[in-house]
Amino acid sequence: MSTARTLRRFTDEPVDDATLRRCLQAATWAPSGANAQAWRFIVLRSPEQRAVVARAAAHALSVIEPVYGMRRPAPDDRSPRARNDRATYELHDRAGEFTSVLFTQKRFPTASELLLGGSIFPAMQNFLLAARAQGLGACPTSWASYDGEPLLREAVGVPADWMLAGHVVVGWPRGRHGPLRRRPLREAVAVDHWDRGWDQNTDAAVADG
Ligand SMILES: Cc1cc2nc3c(=O)[nH]c(=O)nc-3n(C[C@H](O)[C@H](O)[C@H](O)COP(=O)(O)O)c2cc1C
Repeated sequence: MSTARTLRRFTDEPVDDATLRRCLQAATWAPSGANAQAWRFIVLRSPEQRAVVARAAAHALSVIEPVYGMRRPAPDDRSPRARNDRATYELHDRAGEFTSVLFTQKRFPTASELLLGGSIFPAMQNFLLAARAQGLGACPTSWASYDGEPLLREAVGVPADWMLAGHVVVGWPRGRHGPLRRRPLREAVAVDHWDRGWDQNTDAAVADG
């Protein structure tokens, strides 16, 4: 998990069925509310569906660019920001060349979308971890959101009562990738009360003897 970076630069080598199948199998081992498993994972790899994915990626990029203040970096810019942006542009520009998987979840009128998300995102994470375990690179994307959602819905024939929960691109990694960077644990955890940090709690326990 601590090395499961989001990867965006891939070789031209296609992802073989056996590797992809193991990722999809791992996705089915995830928990879901009432064990409903009301999910369907759609592999997008025909030239026609890849063309739709490429259009969805272009839409998403046009939304993301202003939000993150992204611009295509100058070729001689070697800064970490430029390297990351370059990889992001490469993924979006080459979106039509890769296999990807659309994660869908059936709607249930009694459950909120967030609660339903809790039944599909563990499957997506299992998929990502299985990809990492096999040396496969993966990038979750927002391409099934924004204007890409109707495009993908139509192309795949997703029924109206199913939600597009997520979309993941997979490929064999190219180049080197730095370490995963995350905020320290203490910023993420509280104990018993919103304001009571984990470290604070540990210190108190020590002081109490
Ligand atoms: C819900 C979600 C949507 C994302 N959408 C995009 C996207 O549209 N394009 C992209 O390049 N990366 C996308 N990402 C990748 C994130 O930017 C990436 O996982 C995050 O920056 C952490 O990167 P790291 O694992 O390399 O540290 C998305 C990730 C998630 C979880």
